[in-house]
Amino acid sequence: MLQLLKTSDGSHTIRHVELNETYHSIHGAVQESKHVFIQNGLHFYIEKHKPSCLKILEVGFGTGLNAFLTMIDEKSHGISIMYDAVEAFPLPGEMAMELNYPDFVETSNAASIFSALHKAAWNETSSMSTDFTLRKMHNSVQATMLEKSTYDIVYFDAFAPKTQPDMWSASVLSNVIWAIKTGGVLVTYCASGQFKRDLKSLQVEIEVLHGPPGKKEMVRASRIPK
Ligand SMILES: C[S@@+](CC[C@H](N)C(=O)[O-])C[C@H]1O[C@@H](n2cnc3c(N)ncnc32)[C@H](O)[C@@H]1O
Repeated sequence: MLQLLKTSDGSHTIRHVELNETYHSIHGAVQESKHVFIQNGLHFYIEKHKPSCLKILEVGFGTGLNAFLTMIDEKSHGISIMYDAVEAFPLPGEMAMELNYPDFVETSNAASIFSALHKAAWNETSSMSTDFTLRKMHNSVQATMLEKSTYDIVYFDAFAPKTQPDMWSASVLSNVIWAIKTGGVLVTYCASGQFKRDLKSLQVEIEVLHGPPGKKEMVRASRIPK
């Protein structure tokens, strides 16, 4: 069963009752997404590489919050984005429409953008605007064939390792890292010891950064050449 909850910054999240897990930090869903994925992923990459186009992979599309904030944010950078997201258990459409994320951005058509992201067909590439395409893949990350050196940024937003250890297994991580271009980054809210040890055996440089409110640390891993 899924329940809608309000987090400390007023933005919604979803609680997965059987797993006893929330989709975001209860200290603020929008705050967390902006800190981990937008600032330390998207902005970091844009400032460093000054790209004109970007390819992003999200593991766990869920509420669509990260895709939504990325699409809104992209407008101020003038770059084009191809956004792929893997999701094994899509949210029921009615529940997605109850989420209050459009209230947290200053864009006049925010509600229609958010709705369009959810209504986009699964397993097809959909054009959301002139410079943002979305491909939502209805599949588990374990069964998704990712192509080598494809993505500039990966938003790794799975449930916590204690709840879903298989999502953080060495085989999933190495598959995801192999899909990142040299110089590309993976960002995640997780900074567990085992996760960092597993990353060390892959071709990445690890940075442990300040986490969002309520969380001490987060991780950014940059793909380095062989
Ligand atoms: C922590 S939630 C985050 C979701 C999303 N990024 C958001 O902001 O709402 C984790 C997501 O991973 C999805 N998930 C669970 N198992 C999965 C799997 N094996 N492969 C892909 N996605 C999975 C869940 O359904 C959920 O949507």
